[in-house]
Amino acid sequence: MKFFIDTAEIEEIKSLSELGLVDGVTTNPTLIYKSGKDFREVIKEISSIVKGPISAEVTSIKSQDMIDQGIELAKISNNIVVKVPLTADGLIACKKLSSSNIKVNVTLCFSASQALLAGKLGATYISPFIGRLDDIGTPGLNLIKDIVNIYNIHKQDIKTEVLAASIRSPLQVSQVASAGAHVATIPPNIIYQMIKHPLTDVGLATFMNDWKKTGQKF
Ligand code: E4P
Repeated sequence: MKFFIDTAEIEEIKSLSELGLVDGVTTNPTLIYKSGKDFREVIKEISSIVKGPISAEVTSIKSQDMIDQGIELAKISNNIVVKVPLTADGLIACKKLSSSNIKVNVTLCFSASQALLAGKLGATYISPFIGRLDDIGTPGLNLIKDIVNIYNIHKQDIKTEVLAASIRSPLQVSQVASAGAHVATIPPNIIYQMIKHPLTDVGLATFMNDWKKTGQKF
């Protein structure tokens, strides 16, 4: 499973890239707002650091405007993926951009039937938001399982990858991996939480202490 990082913070992207854990990056208007940076500048900077796919979201709700923005975004770098919302206008833009060889990430997906539409229209990625579903008492993981199953059954026609989004815990990352998601987009703090385990810390402290007691030098 590929790891995308869900952030527009340059320093976080650089640190996690050094760890070798960044296959791509996803952004959205909220993350751009939090970064406090100019939209085009930040997308350009991210795409110069990470060679994998960088999702940049359109900011219009009308299909023609989305298409125009998508074409402009795709010119920033050859690894840009245009993010469009799962609306009728977004689907029109998805079809048009995808057929012009521009990669599209269809975002704000909350049902398997929505994902089926994006798959039929040639999306490169579908982004089901599992954390936001969990927030309203609907198990987000079930949505990932359903979409993976549908796309598998129809793999001759649907080439779209399932990009599990809105992830809030390390447990969700391992669960979407087990469910067969192709990609998880993960906030940086969750990656750091994934590394940590108290038994690793305790075990390492014991090993270091016992090594010291041997009196040997490496
Ligand atoms: C996906 O691409 C979105 O940027 C993101 O995962 C949304 O997560 P949130 O629900 O924590 O805002």
